[in-house]
Amino acid sequence: MHARAAAASISALLGTAALLFPVSPAAAAPGAGTPPLVIAHRGASAHAPENTLAAVDKAAELGIRWVENDVQRTRDGALVVLHDDNLRRTTDVEEVFPGRAPWKVKDFTAAEIARLDAGSWFGPAYAGARVPTLEQFVHRVERHHQKLLLEIKNPELYPGIERQTLKVLSNEGWLDSSHLSGRLIVQSFSAGSVRTVHELKPGVKTALLGTPRVADLPVCAGFADQINPSHSTLSSAYVATVQSFDGPHGRPLEVFTWTVDDAATAQRVARYGVDGIITNRPDVVREAVGG
Ligand code: G3P
Ligand code: CA
Repeated sequence: MHARAAAASISALLGTAALLFPVSPAAAAPGAGTPPLVIAHRGASAHAPENTLAAVDKAAELGIRWVENDVQRTRDGALVVLHDDNLRRTTDVEEVFPGRAPWKVKDFTAAEIARLDAGSWFGPAYAGARVPTLEQFVHRVERHHQKLLLEIKNPELYPGIERQTLKVLSNEGWLDSSHLSGRLIVQSFSAGSVRTVHELKPGVKTALLGTPRVADLPVCAGFADQINPSHSTLSSAYVATVQSFDGPHGRPLEVFTWTVDDAATAQRVARYGVDGIITNRPDVVREAVGG
């Protein structure tokens, strides 16, 4: 979902006419402080095929502690890690299942998706990489002692995916105190989905993707610990304004911005005082901002 659509979903949630955030970038930047966290977007996805275990491994190899992913659901109810709502761009589904257009994730079983090659499109070195299940993904993140920024993608396509995601996380040991206290954030572009996660498991740290208008922030702060906007919508004033609200756990709202892949932009958003930078090139961003 794009930022404008996310704003619309907040509008639906609030029953108001939400618009994209209009504050001018007038406020002073917060200045140098703790460097922002660096989050490997879909894994280290400039270096390995996105949302695969290889991308998690690559992030670990680079020394990156935080990994982002995208979670969706198969026809038979399994949770898998994939960004698009269809399998065409990042797998060989058109060759393996030529008669199954438009190749939506929700139209394939987990066993069918497990047959697909999710690595060759990126490069021959990754031939045979698979679309991981959420269980496989969190196992790999755990093995590397990493932390997970989990995005519930397209929740409108998958009724109940919030409860199901939390169930998988619980089964895999990701809702214990050690994970809840700093190793897990659940995010979505859908305000309703984020609010559902918060209501089902109030101990889970949550994030709303997009750039809600300032007037909506008090409501967002009731269920989201972070507001995570595109860097293209960001100003120092907006970051400071978001951080001036306390979230559902009594701490200031945080800002993780995306998707920043070059040093100059990373340094710009770091000057704005963001708490995290989500990037396909975590090595480049870490070098640019420190940490
Ligand atoms: O984590 C932020 C980012 O992943 C949101 O956009 O489309 O890459 O899921 P997208
Ligand atoms: Ca994502």
